[in-house]
Amino acid sequence: MLEIRDLQFTIRKDGADIPLLQNISVKIPSGHFVAIVGPSGCGKSTLLKTIAGINVESGGDLHWDGRNLSEDGDLQPDEFGYVPQFSIAFDELTVEESIDNAIQLRLKTRSQAEVEQIADRIIEEVGLDAIRERRVAVLSGGQKRRLGLALEMATAPRLLLCDEVTSGLDPKSESEIVNLLHRLSKSGDRIVASVTHSLGHLDLYDSVLVLYAGRVVYHGPPSTLAHYFGVALAEEVYPSLATREPEQWAQSWQKHREAYYAAMPGFAAPAPQPAAGDEASAKRAGRPDFFTQLFVLLGRRWTIFFRDRTQLLLQVAMLLIFPAVVVLFALDGVPSLKRASENRAPGLEQEMKEKIQIAENRAEVGGLLSGLVMFQVVLLALMGSNNSAREIAAERLIFEKEKLGGLRISSYLGSKLLFLAVLVTVQSVWMYLFVNIFAQVPAAPLVHAGLLILVNAAMTAVCLGISAAMGSPDQASLLSIYLVGFQLPLSGAVLALPSAVEPLIQPFISAYWSWSGIVRSLEDRFFAAVDTVTEASLRPAGLCFLVLTIHLVFGVILSFAGAARSRWSH
Ligand SMILES: Nc1ncnc2c1ncn2[C@@H]1O[C@H](COP(=O)(O)OP(=O)(O)OP(=O)(O)O)[C@@H](O)[C@H]1O
Ligand SMILES: [Mg+2]
Repeated sequence: MLEIRDLQFTIRKDGADIPLLQNISVKIPSGHFVAIVGPSGCGKSTLLKTIAGINVESGGDLHWDGRNLSEDGDLQPDEFGYVPQFSIAFDELTVEESIDNAIQLRLKTRSQAEVEQIADRIIEEVGLDAIRERRVAVLSGGQKRRLGLALEMATAPRLLLCDEVTSGLDPKSESEIVNLLHRLSKSGDRIVASVTHSLGHLDLYDSVLVLYAGRVVYHGPPSTLAHYFGVALAEEVYPSLATREPEQWAQSWQKHREAYYAAMPGFAAPAPQPAAGDEASAKRAGRPDFFTQLFVLLGRRWTIFFRDRTQLLLQVAMLLIFPAVVVLFALDGVPSLKRASENRAPGLEQEMKEKIQIAENRAEVGGLLSGLVMFQVVLLALMGSNNSAREIAAERLIFEKEKLGGLRISSYLGSKLLFLAVLVTVQSVWMYLFVNIFAQVPAAPLVHAGLLILVNAAMTAVCLGISAAMGSPDQASLLSIYLVGFQLPLSGAVLALPSAVEPLIQPFISAYWSWSGIVRSLEDRFFAAVDTVTEASLRPAGLCFLVLTIHLVFGVILSFAGAARSRWSH
C-alpha cells in the first residue's frame, strides 16, 4: 500500500512561495493500476517526482508498506521504477544491450547467464522479442516507451511510476501500452501509477486520480468519474473543472473521499504483506559493487564510441591532421634547427663557427621552437575540450535516471576518467612522436611528453567539470571553446601580458604551464634562443607539472560536484 497523507510541495520563486501540490491525500493498494490525470500544468509530473524522491516534499508524509518515507528515508532504488517521458536509452545500443546494461547496473548478479535469463524474462514480459537486436535510434515511439518500461523492470519494482508513456502514440500503440501496464500491475504484487492525458481509455485502470491546480479533486473508479463531475463522458471532465475554483473541488472531494474508498476493493483493508514471489526474491540481492558498475559503464562507453561514426571520424581526423599541421608549419624552419643541433663537433674553430651560426639563427630557432611547442600544446588543449565538453551534459537525464536507480557517482565518473585517460594518452603521445619524427625538439623527452599529456589531461578534466556543472551540452561546449580560445592569447607566449595582470591570469592558463615547462627543459643554448624571442617568464618544469596537476585535480573535483547535483531539467 502506498499512502500519501497531506502532502505539500512548494517552491520558492522570486522570493514568493508557490505551492505546486497542496493537501494531497491518497491511498493506493498493491496490485492496483491508477491513472493520474488532469489539465496540463496541474502537477502530475511533480507528484510522480515527489513520490520517487526527486522532489523533496515540503510537508506531509509518504507511507510505503508501513514505512514513513519522510522519516525512514526514500524508497530504495530497487523498490520502484520511474519511467520519464524522455527517452532514457542510448541510440547506439540495441534493445537487448540496453536491457542487459540496466540489469548489470542495478542488480547484483552472479553470472552473465543470469543477466541473460533476467533479460529474456523482461523482454518477453514487455513484448520486445521481435526487435531485441534493433538499435534504439531506429525504434518507433511506442517501442521506445516499451524499452523505457523494460529498463525499469530490471529490479522487478513493486511501484512503477510512469509519466505520459502513452502520449504521442497512435491509438493502437497506446492501447497496447495501457494493456501492458495493466498486466504489469497484476503481476508481482505491484502498483502501477500512470500519468496520462487521454481520458478515452480509462476502463483498464482500477482507479483514476484527478489533479487540478495541485489538488486532488477525485480519486475513484473510472466508471463513476463522469457522473461525479456531472458530465456525460469522461472527456468532458476537463472543461467542467473550470466551472468551480480548485479549492471548492478539493473540498467537495474531501467530503466524498471516504465513501468512495470504502466502496473500492483493497482500500479499506490493511496493507497486505508483500508476497515473496520469484520477482520479489530476485531483487533483494542489492545493488552491484563499485567496480561492476564502473566496468559496465566503461564497456558501454567504448561500444558507443566505436558505433558513433561522427565522433569516431572526428577523433581520427584530429589525430591525423593536428600533428601534421604542426609539422607543416615547422618544416620551413627545420633546416636551421638541424644546423643548430648538428654542428656539435669539438674543436675551437668549429665551436666559433657554431657560435656565430647560432647567433645568426638564434631568433629564427627560438621563434620556431617556441611556436612549435605552443602549437602542440594549444592543439592538445583543443583536443582535450573536444574530448569531454559534452561528455556528461549530453547524457545528463540518462545519468540522473541511473543515479535514481542506484548508480554510484564515483563509478560513473571513474568510467569517464578511464575512458578519457585512454583518449588523452593516445592523442598526446602520438602528437609527441609524430612531431619529433619530422622536427626534433631538443627538449628533455620525459618532460616534453609528460607536459603534453598533462596539458591535454588538465583541459579534458576541466571541461569534464564544465560538462557536469552546466545545464545543457550547448552551454558546456560554448564555455569549453571559450576556455580553449583564450589559452593562446593569454599564455603570454605570443604577446606579453601586462605585468599587472600576468600574476592574476597566468595561474589559470594550462597552455602556458605546459609550454613554459617544455621550453625550460630545452638544451641550454636552445632555451637561450627562445628566451630572446619571448618576454614571458619561463618556469621550471617541476612547478609546471605541479600547476597542471592542480588544474587536473580541480577539474575532477568540479566533475564530482557537478555530477552529484540533481539536475532533472536544464
Ligand atoms: N522546478 C520548478 N520550478 C518552477 N515551476 C515548476 C517546477 N516544477 C514544476 N513547475 C510548475 O508546476 C506546475 C506543474 O508542473 P507539472 O510538470 O507537474 O505539470 P503536469 O501536470 O505534469 O503538466 P503536463 O501535463 O503539461 O506535463 C507547472 O505550472 C510548472 O510550470
Ligand atoms: Mg507532466
